[in-house]
Amino acid sequence: INRRFALTAAGLLAALAIAACSKQEPAAPAAASAPPPPAAARVLVVGTDAAYTPFESQNDKGEIVGFDIDVVKAVAQKAGIEVKFVNTPWEGIFNALDQGDRDLLVSAITITDERRQTMDFSQSYFDARQLIAVKNDSPVTKFDDIKTLKVGVQNGTTGDEVVGKLLGKSSTAIKRFESTPLALKELEAGGVQAVVADNGVVVHYIANNTAGGFKTVSDANFPVEKYGIAVKKGNTELLAKINQGLEGIRADGTYAKIYASHFGAESK
Ligand code: ARG
Repeated sequence: INRRFALTAAGLLAALAIAACSKQEPAAPAAASAPPPPAAARVLVVGTDAAYTPFESQNDKGEIVGFDIDVVKAVAQKAGIEVKFVNTPWEGIFNALDQGDRDLLVSAITITDERRQTMDFSQSYFDARQLIAVKNDSPVTKFDDIKTLKVGVQNGTTGDEVVGKLLGKSSTAIKRFESTPLALKELEAGGVQAVVADNGVVVHYIANNTAGGFKTVSDANFPVEKYGIAVKKGNTELLAKINQGLEGIRADGTYAKIYASHFGAESK
């Protein structure tokens, strides 16, 4: 009985395979509006500045991990694209996209009108806000209080931008660092009296560096910032796939699972 079943099963599979093949045979006239099947899909290169825990960082094994990474992996799976992540310093990250060295960027990038001029963004996948980090004994209670202090930021970030507006872009009181952890180290060392950066990263850093003696100060005047995945300007095909993937992982609960695994239950 077993053998007969096996034979029948094999026969069925063969029949199915033939049916599947022959189905594709006739040049379907209806396919006129459908896009052609993706030609031997290339592995897309994702640029990320992996010094931004919990969004992107490098673990002991040298693997790039984090919330953003999990989101893009899930999006890629939904969208039927293959991706690999390459650590890319923030300072050159937008240029790398523009030059075609990276196909997409995920790096806790805030969607801004200025950046929209030179790249395209997916729909937003995360909400953030600036947050001020100061030493425990600091008198700072609001953003305006840092006006007279030395302030550390990561160069070219939205934190750099808001501090530039308050202190004046070319103020020598603004110390610009290559990465946010470097700015926070300088706060610990006393070289700056405040750091302004994305809330998720500041909160995570302080929670994991209790010896640093930091506290946070929030200010309701900081606008909500929306993170997006960036593609080269005009790459509408890839952008559509990414958006479709994002919608897919939101709809099937994958996004909520990823969110919970990094931040706990979603608050909104
Ligand atoms: N959200 C901020 C911005 O877009 C900071 C992002 C920095 N990201 C990073 N991986 N270093 O300017």
